[in-house]
Amino acid sequence: MSLQEKLEALKVATVEKIKAAEDLQLLNQIRVETLGKKGPITEVLRGMKDLSAEERPKIGSFANEIRDALTAEIEEKKAALEVAAMNKALAEESIDVTLPGKKMAQGTRHVLTQIMEEIEDIFIGMGYQVVEGYEVEQDHYNFERMNLPKDHPARDMQDTFYISDEILIRTHTSPVQARTMEKHDFTKGPLRMISPGKVFRRDTDDATHSHQFHQIEGLVIDEHITMGDLKGTLEALMQRMFGADREIRLRPSYFPFTEPSVEVDVSCFKCGGAGCNVCKHTGWIEILGAGMVHPNVLEMSGIDSEKYSGFAFGLGPDRIAMLRYGVNDIRNFYQNDVRFIRQFKGE
Ligand code: DAH
Repeated sequence: MSLQEKLEALKVATVEKIKAAEDLQLLNQIRVETLGKKGPITEVLRGMKDLSAEERPKIGSFANEIRDALTAEIEEKKAALEVAAMNKALAEESIDVTLPGKKMAQGTRHVLTQIMEEIEDIFIGMGYQVVEGYEVEQDHYNFERMNLPKDHPARDMQDTFYISDEILIRTHTSPVQARTMEKHDFTKGPLRMISPGKVFRRDTDDATHSHQFHQIEGLVIDEHITMGDLKGTLEALMQRMFGADREIRLRPSYFPFTEPSVEVDVSCFKCGGAGCNVCKHTGWIEILGAGMVHPNVLEMSGIDSEKYSGFAFGLGPDRIAMLRYGVNDIRNFYQNDVRFIRQFKGE
């Protein structure tokens, strides 16, 4: 067989192998075997030096032709195999988008968060700012600035956890009053704020007491604020929370940071005032403490008590939630039993 015939036979045999190759790996193997450094074509080209001067260019160009033809053949097959592989993957990995999805369990906000956000919305609607205070607070703001000096007997009702002599976890949200007052710029308008949050006391937990509970503090300071403003504001709040025909009444009380101080009752939302188990047959439900800000409190925050006056109140979202939903044990709010929590969908 002449060299030319050998090359021709090699081409025919290799084209056949390429056509038959069913995967890329095999194809690559064929390429290495025929066109690689140790393959027959390279061998022919290497042996050219032994050929006669007239044969050399003929064989050389013929070998090159065959190499180019085989390379093209391999490339074409490679492209075809790649397309086939992709089509196969697409077919195998396709997703049936018509299958129904898995429903995700959706949580709700905690019932106390719901109540607090509802109250926030009401006050935001009346032009109040919502202020966040500190749960770890200074004795100075928690007591002194609220007109409860170190030896004041009313401190006994609000014992708490002391981190040091001067640092404690707050017993009420009232310190936010002092912190907001001292920063307020009255040339920019009156101060109207509420401050919701957690408070802590040394209490033995029972159905109506928890060592941790919530309060919402309210404070308004401006010129000519009167108790009429306080009453109107709280009446509007109670009507939004417990129904449009609610009434409130104020009873004299005592808080060191207000003068005069009042206890506020709302007419019973269940019986309308006739007397029932919710209002303990009095027709009224005790709902919050309030009063006119004590001049000492204003002055300690750098506010001229001759020019400015204000009202303040403190209410308990836990108690409001208990009343509204008939929850008879405050501890339910803090035990995180989902069977309890899930009942309050918050729609
Ligand atoms: N800080 C009081 C408490 O925890 C509640 C309170 C009463 C707040 C009257 C006030 C207020 O702002 O005017 O018992």
